[in-house]
Amino acid sequence: MYADRVARLQRALDERATQQLLRTPVTLERYNGRQLIIAGKGYINFSGNDYLGLATEPQVLQAFADGARHYGAGSTGSPLVTGQHGVHQQLSDSLCDWLGFERVLLFSSGFAANQAMLLTLSDKADTLLLDKLSHASLIDAALHSDANLKRFVHNDVAALEALLSQVQRPMVVTEGVFSMDGDSPDLAVMLTLCQQFNAPLLLDDAHGLGVSGPEGMGTATAQGIKQADVFCTMANFGKALGVGGAFIAGSKTVIDYIEQFGRHYIYSTALPPALCAAVLKSIELCRKEDWRRDKLHSNITLFRNLASDLPQLDSQSAIQAVVLGSSERALSVSQALKHTGIWLSAIRPPTVPQGSARLRITLSAHHTEQDIQQLVQQLRQLI
Ligand SMILES: Cc1ncc(COP(=O)(O)O)c(C=O)c1O
Repeated sequence: MYADRVARLQRALDERATQQLLRTPVTLERYNGRQLIIAGKGYINFSGNDYLGLATEPQVLQAFADGARHYGAGSTGSPLVTGQHGVHQQLSDSLCDWLGFERVLLFSSGFAANQAMLLTLSDKADTLLLDKLSHASLIDAALHSDANLKRFVHNDVAALEALLSQVQRPMVVTEGVFSMDGDSPDLAVMLTLCQQFNAPLLLDDAHGLGVSGPEGMGTATAQGIKQADVFCTMANFGKALGVGGAFIAGSKTVIDYIEQFGRHYIYSTALPPALCAAVLKSIELCRKEDWRRDKLHSNITLFRNLASDLPQLDSQSAIQAVVLGSSERALSVSQALKHTGIWLSAIRPPTVPQGSARLRITLSAHHTEQDIQQLVQQLRQLI
């Protein structure tokens, strides 16, 4: 049955394999914040987004467990039907208090939140202007929206200005910290341009929240921008906060509108309330435990200094990329690193542009200086 169709799928899989682009998930036996245990062997983990080490923090785990006992395992419904508990509201209030937004809306993932943000806020008279290196969730959202789409050269404000002057009703979409290159746009310059052309700025700060700015308030605050000047912000709980889920934030009107018209919000099961309890604890620790950010930033500086002779991209964030070019080379170096007890991923097209396959190294507050020295020593031998 369906033999032709299945054969077509198999051909696509075979082609991916021939191009060294097949991805297969590994099964983790344990993760303790610094090390992964896979098939009985320990590896120092340089591939996660647990930048502050909160994913295994005992107080967060306790809040999760207490939450499950108190609220049950799941929310049992979409937020506008039966799914919203008091703890969802507490989490929303805590985000507003921390980040200074008028209102937020919770989502089950950053991917869904980005769909809701772009699809709900734009219409066919708009043109979405996206950075060329935007995350897949933003690109897909823009492609599925009714709006027109144009892309500008990565972080290039001159290219953005040229587009702004050509199109009707522009909306600008960018990221606080780019997920594969680890760099950031100059948001202040971008915002000035946006204001000049009456273009709302939409920001995905998945990798900035918790890490940048005072109390980890994120990239906009770190760059001296008032949250209110950004039309809408998305960030998630699965990176620095170590849990999962996401939120969209902005003015009361913008968020009220997404609540009424955002299909990814309305027709989806609300976050498990126990997860909200864990995120609440994570936020509390993120805000008050500056040592986590201090340690992360000293690890970033150490890595960049030690690896200054390697082909690293210019990034001051927890995401560091060593670009090797071909997929084969990136894969073979990442495999060789695994033999030495270091776990990191080779990122290949289509996630990154052709010819820029790379090692994506993510640093965490839990890494020791010796971990980073060992990583750089091995990289130097293998590259
Ligand atoms: C920049 C960016 N936006 C959105 C997402 C999607 O977030 P989530 O993993 O919560 O779906 C990710 C993570 O994969 C990301 O890196």
